Amino acid sequence: MAVGVFDSGLGGLTVFDAVARRLPDVPFVYLGDNAHAPYGVRTPDDIFNLTCRSVERLWDEGCDLVILACNTASAAALRRMQETWIPADKRVLGVFVPLIEALTERQWGDNSPPREVAVQHVALFATPATVSSRAFQRELAFRAIGVDVEAQPCAGVVDAIEQGDEMLAEALVHSHVEALKRRMPRPQAAILGCTHYPLLERVFREALGPEVKVYSQADIVAESLADYLSRHTHMRGRGGQTRFLTTGDPVAVSHKATQFLRRRLEFEAA
Ligand code: DGL
Repeated sequence: MAVGVFDSGLGGLTVFDAVARRLPDVPFVYLGDNAHAPYGVRTPDDIFNLTCRSVERLWDEGCDLVILACNTASAAALRRMQETWIPADKRVLGVFVPLIEALTERQWGDNSPPREVAVQHVALFATPATVSSRAFQRELAFRAIGVDVEAQPCAGVVDAIEQGDEMLAEALVHSHVEALKRRMPRPQAAILGCTHYPLLERVFREALGPEVKVYSQADIVAESLADYLSRHTHMRGRGGQTRFLTTGDPVAVSHKATQFLRRRLEFEAA
């Protein structure tokens, strides 16, 4: 048994890296649906169907607990999956709620009524599908009042990252940050609401300026998974090796993944 980590492509490796460092004894199976990336320009139905298919694949690998290391799937599909599809003996957790709990200064699972929080002006950078789902605003409204969110759909950034075109990705980040700042000149906090974006965190920070607090989703998710596994020890895998699966070309994906994480990763065909 292992813990499953899913993303449309390579971005989820930023989350995998943080959870694997935080939980060195837990075996993971990472699945990238590279054949169908990016998800961020797809319809909610499409994202739901593709995500369910990948989660089933991870269940076949013995992963009763799957982390959707993909904001697009978490925003556009997770609620529907939980309400209509996931059997009682399996768990699928997203990356959105831990981030919002950190932003609103809450402990895991604190369901007390929404209250005022320190941060009032939040910039959200995410894929077009995540932005149009409005899942971030919905989850935030359960926990905080009076927070103004300005969301920027960052078209093209995931594609440029998946294709390894760093210059294009950097230029796109600058133009998306400028577009957001025209609507919200002084954000206090910025959420990099796509697991691909930490690969460009330096560029986001430069473009946003030093006074903006940038939330690091990967570390927040790692803490929250460690906390979850300490309370649900039967979901914690034992023994076994961490493996990397892809629906794309394993040779090409291994090459890009190795560039991203700056260490050798070997993908197998899913
Ligand atoms: N990395 C994913 C996310 O967090 C998906 C990006 C995509 O496939 O468009 O949103």
